[in-house]
Amino acid sequence: MTTTRIDDIQMAYDDVGSGPAVIFIHGYPFNRSLWTEQAEALSGKYRVVTPDLRGFGESDSSEGPSTMNRMAQDIARLMDHLGIQQAVIASLSMGGYVALAFTKQFPSRVKALVLADTRAQADSDEAKQTRAQQAEKALSEGMAGIADAMLPKLLTPETVSKRPEVVKRVRDMMLKTKPQGAASALLGMAEREDQTEFISTITVPTMIVVGREDAITPLADSEKMRSRIAGSRLVVLENAGHVSNLEQTEQFNFALLRFLERVLV
Ligand code: MLT
Repeated sequence: MTTTRIDDIQMAYDDVGSGPAVIFIHGYPFNRSLWTEQAEALSGKYRVVTPDLRGFGESDSSEGPSTMNRMAQDIARLMDHLGIQQAVIASLSMGGYVALAFTKQFPSRVKALVLADTRAQADSDEAKQTRAQQAEKALSEGMAGIADAMLPKLLTPETVSKRPEVVKRVRDMMLKTKPQGAASALLGMAEREDQTEFISTITVPTMIVVGREDAITPLADSEKMRSRIAGSRLVVLENAGHVSNLEQTEQFNFALLRFLERVLV
């Protein structure tokens, strides 16, 4: 792990392998270790950069909402620091919100996009209220209650009952998240723009991935993105929920490697 100063925070990241750059943006409330298996699978051929977003993992938190635009700017500043002009941006869930904000602000820096278990729409008013309550809860009670409430929505019932190692991995990531980081991200997600119109202007190769049983960003959200992003392809992973790269690592990596081979020729 390395850290570098990005504006007001010290940002942590791993940078392994060499070749065309692939940057992985994790979801909420996770950290860069979400991508351990993807980094292992890719680093023989590609340069793999996995940052901890502001407020997550070993990166500093900041006061106020961590907006998706702000987090996208952090990624651009990290790329500047690493001398990476353009990269494949791979993302999951909140990482996808950041990836879309990044693509809008820095279109020339995106070689291709992977949007896993995410959506283009903004939050409803009700969802925004829930985010504000969750932010309060994280600050006053810590992450344990949030982790317990989220777990059954993140993984399939089968994973929850039969794969304790995956449950533990996801739960440990959530428990390690700093309450301030979680609260700032929740408020940032609540503020995010609706990208439904924007995504129809995306021209880079895009692969959309979703677990068929994703209860947070369901298949229908991915189908909508697929219909709006010209030339995009949709990969539906069976027996996977929201954290599809952890629940079906082999299928996820297979799709990812094939996509990268096609777009990075
Ligand atoms: C995530 O996995 O990043 C979040 O659950 C996304 C969200 O809450 O909208």
